[in-house]
Amino acid sequence: MSTQRIYLVGAGVIARSHAAAIQRLPDPEQVMLAVTDPNPQAMAAFVREYPQARVFEDAQTMLAEAADENDIVIISAPPFAHEELTCAALATGRHVLCEKPLALNQEQARHMLAVAHAYHRLLGCCSVRCLNWPPAEEARRLLQKQALGQLYHVRFLNLEQRNRPGIEFQPQTNWFLDQARSGGGTLMDRAPYEFTVLNDLLQPRRVEVLNAWLANPATALHLPPQTIVDVEQHAGATLRYTLVDGSNVIMNYERASGTHSEEQSMIEFTGVNGSLRWSWPLSRGRATLTHTYDRDGASESRIIAFPPPAAEALRFGEKPLVYFYQRIHNQPSAAVVNEQALFNFSCIRAIYDCATSGLAQVVEKQSLS
Ligand SMILES: NC(=O)c1ccc[n+]([C@@H]2O[C@H](COP(=O)([O-])OP(=O)(O)OC[C@H]3O[C@@H](n4cnc5c(N)ncnc54)[C@H](O)[C@@H]3O)[C@@H](O)[C@H]2O)c1
Repeated sequence: MSTQRIYLVGAGVIARSHAAAIQRLPDPEQVMLAVTDPNPQAMAAFVREYPQARVFEDAQTMLAEAADENDIVIISAPPFAHEELTCAALATGRHVLCEKPLALNQEQARHMLAVAHAYHRLLGCCSVRCLNWPPAEEARRLLQKQALGQLYHVRFLNLEQRNRPGIEFQPQTNWFLDQARSGGGTLMDRAPYEFTVLNDLLQPRRVEVLNAWLANPATALHLPPQTIVDVEQHAGATLRYTLVDGSNVIMNYERASGTHSEEQSMIEFTGVNGSLRWSWPLSRGRATLTHTYDRDGASESRIIAFPPPAAEALRFGEKPLVYFYQRIHNQPSAAVVNEQALFNFSCIRAIYDCATSGLAQVVEKQSLS
């Protein structure tokens, strides 16, 4: 393999997981890693762990060298910086893998895709970490076999009582709590993974958000003074998915990183001939899929249990880089790029738009290309 160059823009928490994922590429010894971050402490901590990385004072200087066909730039800065950094990197003639959420809003995300098209480069999103989860793959197989008959309802529930980014999760990182810098709360941070999985299984051509709500449940907070906290921690929506065959499926979606509701994690697909139910990958306990159907008038369930992942299976944090690498090297890949990345992100922004305006929102795949 010839040298593969990987440029990291942002050297914080997640940058280290991308750097570690290099070991899962076909020839890690041939990877040249470069990194930049305006924060000297972040830079120093990164270089202690990855002393082989070439260090640059800013992204512009780092990306000034001539681009190679397969160069990858990973934008691992916070959401408020994604659009500017992604567009600048694409304009140097390099493929860009951007952290989730793709941007702060749809306008920014559309602009990023337009720039990717203008420079004939790929824009990938890191929201793929939860793809290829064995219960979801078994659900896909059963759906393809028409085991549920006509699908008419999806229930998605992922409620955590106290796992708020910037409070319980990564408490040192306060941009999570400031809408101007994060774009939003629990939806912006966690829903990118969920809509990537849901859209991958359902392959909708159109998603309507029929109604939606956002809430920030009150709790005692022990944060540094002047910390801005204006994001939602609990959200829900009713969506209508129109699938490629023209059929409609209603989805009740709810997620929370902070709530007074009971903790729950459940994905349920229901059709006229049966249902499938499993838990979100990051929840605790053994992975299982429950298939419920009718046997001679009585309800019967079959529970399929999955073994723990094999040592060679890709871990969550390794998937974004490995899948994107496979995609740019024209190998089979689960990477989410270009229109699909924009579509998944637009579904999430449409929930915000519906909740704030009170008006139903439509996301049409065709209109994004
Ligand atoms: N922390 C996680 O577990 C995690 C997991 C998955 C995805 N992400 C996503 O990764 C992104 C970064 O999150 P994080 O947790 O690593 O945040 P972080 O705050 O730990 O690190 C972000 C780094 O980006 C740097 N930065 C800011 N502006 C920059 C610029 N213009 N150029 C270069 N660097 C810049 C900051 O100085 C900081 O060191 C976010 O979009 C987040 O949603 C984080």
